[in-house]
Order: sequence, then structure tokens, then C-alpha cells
Amino acid sequence: MKTLKTIAASRRWRAGLDSKVVLVPTMGALHHGHEALIRHARGIAGPSGSVVVSIFVNPTQFGPKEDFASYPRPLASDLAITRRAGADAVFLPSIGEMYAADKSVTVNESLLSATLCGRSRPGHFEGVCSVVAKLFLATQPTHAVFGEKDWQQLAIIRRMVRDLLFPVTIEPFPIVRDADGLATSSRNAYLTPAERNLAPRIFDAMTQASKLKTPQAIVKNCTSGIKKIPGAQIDYVEAVDASTLHPLSNRKQIGRLAAAVFLGKARLIDNVHLPLFA
Ligand code: PAF
Repeated sequence: MKTLKTIAASRRWRAGLDSKVVLVPTMGALHHGHEALIRHARGIAGPSGSVVVSIFVNPTQFGPKEDFASYPRPLASDLAITRRAGADAVFLPSIGEMYAADKSVTVNESLLSATLCGRSRPGHFEGVCSVVAKLFLATQPTHAVFGEKDWQQLAIIRRMVRDLLFPVTIEPFPIVRDADGLATSSRNAYLTPAERNLAPRIFDAMTQASKLKTPQAIVKNCTSGIKKIPGAQIDYVEAVDASTLHPLSNRKQIGRLAAAVFLGKARLIDNVHLPLFA
């Protein structure tokens, strides 16, 4: 597996390839969910294609009071996971490599970013779009894999690719869950053992609520289920159209029930499919 630390090195590596190049963008602190994403990328690339995993804790997507400084950076274990999952290269740029000190151009998606996590984390998706655009330009993938756990991020990246004509096929990957239902996330590491035991109840509440008939009943039931979890503080619980992210008004559109919940030091997000309801 090749380690690429600069944009020039990444472009040189890319220039020698003429088959599929599949990017898995990450912020490191890799877990078995990421490993599944990388293995999926390996499958898309096939034997003649290549997989590149980027590991970059992107400062511009963290708010001033968020966990940029404390975000875990276990590089040795990240490299072991990346290698084990079959990546051909890892792109490991420094902050200085990615951002000029006097940077003045960003990428801003203005509609889908206005809701859910975008409402509680101002500037977050501008940071995400800007860095993903730069990762695309640095690694020039034909395909890029994004997890459905960040449903809103996936929708926004698809929009960015469409609106800015990036020649990249976006490949979604289903949420990877631990055996008890908790969606895998690097931020699960912030949970105490007691909080870790409580955390799957968020997904339980969402799953139960998703069976109800109206979006209003779903949100009400899910909210009251999550409120019963000791210490849980709801950021949002919303039923939205799966592609526009507009509030879901009925079950005649495919929806997504999305939630963000603080549990101790962790802000956990999750989402579940809301199929059409006959
Ligand atoms: O989902 C993430 O880990 C990040 O938002 C991403 C896409 C790697 C951009 O920093």
C-alpha cells in the first residue's frame, strides 16, 4: 500500500492508472464500518482498479466549540485497517497541504445544508463540501464511497457532484451497525461503558416509530422514546423526504427518519428508511 502525503504525490500516483479509481474519504479513527466501506470500494474497483483511502481530520468542518483538537488520530491502527481491507493507497495530507493560509474560496451548498445537522452545526457542510471537492481534485477518483449514516452529507455531496459537474460516481453504502443496533461511528469512542449500553435505544426508538402511519406520529413517538433514555439530549428528530430533505408531509414519498442526540460527550446521529405507506 502506497502512502501519499502530498497532492503532487497523489496526482503522480493517479497519472499511472487507467482503470477505475475508487476513493473512500475518511477522517481516520477507522472502525469496522469504515473497513466495510473500503472492502466495498475494493469490490467496485475490481482486480484492475485501485482504491485510495484519504485520512484527513478536516478542521473547516468543525465548529469552534467542537472536538477538532480531541478527535482521535490513531494512525498506526488506521493504516493497518486500510491495508487489511485491500486499499492500494492512502492519502494523508497535512493541513498546510490542503489549505493555504490565505484561502478565500469555499464550496457552499445552500439548500440541503439548511436543515438537520446543518441547522445545528453552521458552516459544517461548507467545510465538508470544500474538503471533498479538494479530495476529488487531489485524487481524481472515478468513484467515491460515502456511508448512509451521514445521510444528509451523502445527499449534499451528490448535489455538489451534480451541480459542479464532478466526473465522479457516488456510491452509497448502507449503515454498518454493531450487533445491538448502534450505528458504528468514530465518536462512539467518547461514550462511557454505561452510555454505550444505553446508546442502542436510540435506534430502537427510531425503528419502533418508523412503523407508524404519519410523519407526525413517527416524530412524536420517536422523540418520547429517546427522552426515556437517561442522559439523552435531543438535538433533532425529523422525518424528511429522502432526497430533498424537506419535512415529510405524508407517507406517499420515500422518507428518512433522522435524529441527532447528545449522550455524554458524544453527539450521535442515525437515520432509518421510511418506505411508502399504503
Ligand atoms: O464523513 C466524513 O468522515 C467526513 O465528513 C469526510 C467526508 C471525510 C470529509 O471530511
